[in-house]
Amino acid sequence: MNSQDFEFVAQLMHKRAGIVLGGDKMYLLESRLGPLARKEGLPSIDDLIQVVRARRDERLLTQLVDVMTTSETFFFRDRTPFQHLREAVLPLLGQARKGQRIRIWSAGCSTGQEPYSLAMMLDQNPAITGGVPVEIVATDIAERCLDRARQGLFTQFEVQRGLPIQMLLKYFKQQGDRWVVSDALKQMVEFREFNLIQDPGVLGQFDVVFCRNVLIYFDQPTKSAVLGRIAGVIPPDGYLYLGGAETVLGVSDRFAPIAGQRGIYAPAAATAAAASPLLAGAGS
Ligand SMILES: C[S@@+](CC[C@H](N)C(=O)[O-])C[C@H]1O[C@@H](n2cnc3c(N)ncnc32)[C@H](O)[C@@H]1O
Repeated sequence: MNSQDFEFVAQLMHKRAGIVLGGDKMYLLESRLGPLARKEGLPSIDDLIQVVRARRDERLLTQLVDVMTTSETFFFRDRTPFQHLREAVLPLLGQARKGQRIRIWSAGCSTGQEPYSLAMMLDQNPAITGGVPVEIVATDIAERCLDRARQGLFTQFEVQRGLPIQMLLKYFKQQGDRWVVSDALKQMVEFREFNLIQDPGVLGQFDVVFCRNVLIYFDQPTKSAVLGRIAGVIPPDGYLYLGGAETVLGVSDRFAPIAGQRGIYAPAAATAAAASPLLAGAGS
């Protein structure tokens, strides 16, 4: 692939998904675009790019962005966020939302391991919200990931990553060489296509947002804009969970860290007003 073609793909990814592809990511193009070229019946990646550039075919452009996204994920990733949500946040939100519901957003949900982990955690701990119902909305830009997530189909390798054996046996059934999530668990998650560079207002308000291991692919202005838009859909007593390698510090002043809890944030307005009991506790 020549540098102009690489530049074309890099600009497309940035414009459409906010994703930055550095020059060191050439190998990703080779491994991810090869299968797409074959699927389209084209002899090489160079031919694929030529066709995409010449035709500007929307379907092909969308597929190119889709296959270029990184979908690495696993069940109960990093464990601590799920534990914090279960032990600290959901009991508090349960008290604050009596007679209402709690909404959780898995933003950048990939093939579904994150929202299904949330669903299993809720199913295992039915009393933590004091009877307040919980809704899980899971979104991603990549249709290929959402398709798999909706089917709830996982390989042996995937169910061996982070999923306790008791949960595998309780919530999954073996289907050939795959494992399929139970219908009950599938019904707990609503999967939707959503691009984080758009306004999430269309999805409604969320008490908890998991946006984990997604911002790492964006440049600073995109991170800051995405965080600003997420802040717009979280109430003052809501929470944001980022990935272990991500932070809001130096990127957005719309969130403040919860002391002693890496990757967990509350809306910054809440810090000033001490609206979040966890922040108030942390500061005293
Ligand atoms: C590395 S996975 C992380 C999955 C999961 N959150 C986790 O922590 O395991 C990143 C996901 O973000 C999605 N993504 C990347 N850019 C996006 C965008 N602009 N809008 C929505 N999703 C995006 C990718 O398609 C991918 O599924």
